Amino acid sequence: MINIHRLPDPAAVGRAAADLVDAAVLDRGERVVGLATGSSPLETYAELVRRHGRDPHSPYRSVDAYLLDEYVGLPVGHPERYAAVIRREFTDAMGVAPHRVHGPDADAPDLDEASRAYDAAIERAGGVGMQLLGLGSDGHIAFNAPGTPFDAGTHVATLSESTRRDNARFFGGDVASVPRTALSQGIATILRARSIVVIATGARKADVVGRLLSSEPTEALPATALLRHPGTVLLIDDAAAAHLP
Ligand code: GLP
Repeated sequence: MINIHRLPDPAAVGRAAADLVDAAVLDRGERVVGLATGSSPLETYAELVRRHGRDPHSPYRSVDAYLLDEYVGLPVGHPERYAAVIRREFTDAMGVAPHRVHGPDADAPDLDEASRAYDAAIERAGGVGMQLLGLGSDGHIAFNAPGTPFDAGTHVATLSESTRRDNARFFGGDVASVPRTALSQGIATILRARSIVVIATGARKADVVGRLLSSEPTEALPATALLRHPGTVLLIDDAAAAHLP
């Protein structure tokens, strides 16, 4: 079951998502949040920074943040490494110390070992209390492309050509600069989050939102795994809802 909330525009979606994150962190006392990169959560991050960024006593200063994924092969210091992106776009402004921002270790010599270690670290932290998610245009969540088994944990994921094309905008429009692989939380990892907020805005997401909400759970459309999660909310704007009845 997915709870769907339709709002007029991305700013309203951002405020609604920020309300849900606040409910988890401020009201329910969750101290582990799962963060997504990409454009979908940017309004949410901006709203949370407006609400709490300047508060030196904000409970957000003591949360641990776990990223969904990290590119393999980008050099240390590259601005598009997701660990750098999330600090720049959210956690630094929220006063979350860098040592509290965690991601899979895509520089590790043994990436399978690093994947297992990441799932274990999330478990040790008590599990993700609130996970923010975007949707890939092919239905991927994190970097779980169509066909990824629902029971996979964190793993080395191969980026499809369409995902690399979608993400080329972060690499000066040059598809060749987009890494071919990433370490990604698996669908099983994501489904262990106690609550999940999925954000989809804009006409670019209308097709995938329509397919998600008219499908049974199928590995051909990774986001449909969320239909089996007991606490998922989907926030969409009017443009992303264009293909819904
Ligand atoms: C990327 C990321 C996902 C993200 C998705 C959608 O490939 N790995 O975590 O949710 O694409 O991106 P956007 O929000 O920019 O549309």
